[in-house]
Amino acid sequence: MSEIVYLNGEFLPAEEARIPVLDRGFIFGDGVYEVIPVYSRRPFRAAEHFQRLQRSLDAVRIANPMTPAEWSRLIDEIVARNSGEDQSVYLQVTRGVAKRDHAFPKEAKQTVFVMSGPLVTPGADKVERGVAAVTTVDYRWLRCDVKSVSLLANCLLRQHAVDAGAEEVVMLRDGYLSEGSSSNVFVVRNGVLLATPKNHLVLPGITYDVVLELADATRLPVEVRPIPESEVRTADEIWLTSSTKEVLAVTTLDGKPVGSGKPGEVFRTLHAEFQTFKRKVMRAAA
Ligand code: PDD
Repeated sequence: MSEIVYLNGEFLPAEEARIPVLDRGFIFGDGVYEVIPVYSRRPFRAAEHFQRLQRSLDAVRIANPMTPAEWSRLIDEIVARNSGEDQSVYLQVTRGVAKRDHAFPKEAKQTVFVMSGPLVTPGADKVERGVAAVTTVDYRWLRCDVKSVSLLANCLLRQHAVDAGAEEVVMLRDGYLSEGSSSNVFVVRNGVLLATPKNHLVLPGITYDVVLELADATRLPVEVRPIPESEVRTADEIWLTSSTKEVLAVTTLDGKPVGSGKPGEVFRTLHAEFQTFKRKVMRAAA
C-alpha cells in the first residue's frame, strides 16, 4: 500500500504530491516542523507537540494555519489512512510560495504537509548494548529552540557521526553540552541526572520533558544546569532522547567507554519506566 500524505487540503499518494519550486521551504528552508510518535495508532503527547509547533511558528512569524483541534483531526486522519500500529507522523508548515526575496512576502499562503511512516524505535540489541557517539563543536545558529526545517548543519553533523561509525553526535558549545543532531542529551554522575537548561541553544524536547517527569516520579535527583565538557567526558552514563529514539544509552564517546561501557543502572530504571508509562498512557487513551 502506498503511503498517503496530506498536502494543502488534499490526501494523496506520496509520489503524486508536488510543491511549486518557489515554495520558500524549498528555496530558503523557511518553515518549521514536528515529528509526533504514534503508538497503537494513538499520537503520544500530541497537545505538547502542537504547543511547540505554535512556539516555532510564533518565533518565525508564520501564522498557524490550523487550531490544535484541527491539527489533531488531521493527524488522526493521516494515521487512519496509513498502515502500521506504530507510526511516526511528520508535519511541516512553510511560509508558502512567492517570488524569491529574503523578506517575507506580503501575500503568501502557508504550505501544509503531513506524512506518516513506520515508527522505528531502537531494537532490543541497541537498548541492551547502547550506541556510540562522537563529540563535535555545535556550529548551528543561536535559535536551536526553533524546530526549523533549515537542517543543513544538523545533516552535516549527523553525517559526521555516521562517518565515524557512530549513532549520534554529542555537541559542545563554548565548552558546554548542548544536544545531538536530532536528540537531546542527558548525563548521569554519582546518581544524579543532569539536564541541559531549556534555552535558545537546544530544542525543548517532548521526550526530555517526559524523562524529567519520570525522574521526578521515581525520586531520581535531577539538576538542570549547564553541563561542562569535563562532566560529559567523565560521566557515569550518557543518554539520548527523542520521539523516535525514546531513551537510548550512549556507551562509547569518541571511542572511549562511558562509565562501565554498558548501559547503566539509572538508564535501565528510566528506560523501563518510560516503556511502562507509554503503555499506561496509551491504555488510558483507548
Ligand atoms: N528530532 N533536539 C533536536 C535537534 C531534535 O531534532 C530533536 C527531535 C530533539 C528531541 O525532541 P523530541 O523529544 O521532541 O523528539 C532534540 C526529531 C525526532 C527529528 O528531527 O526527526
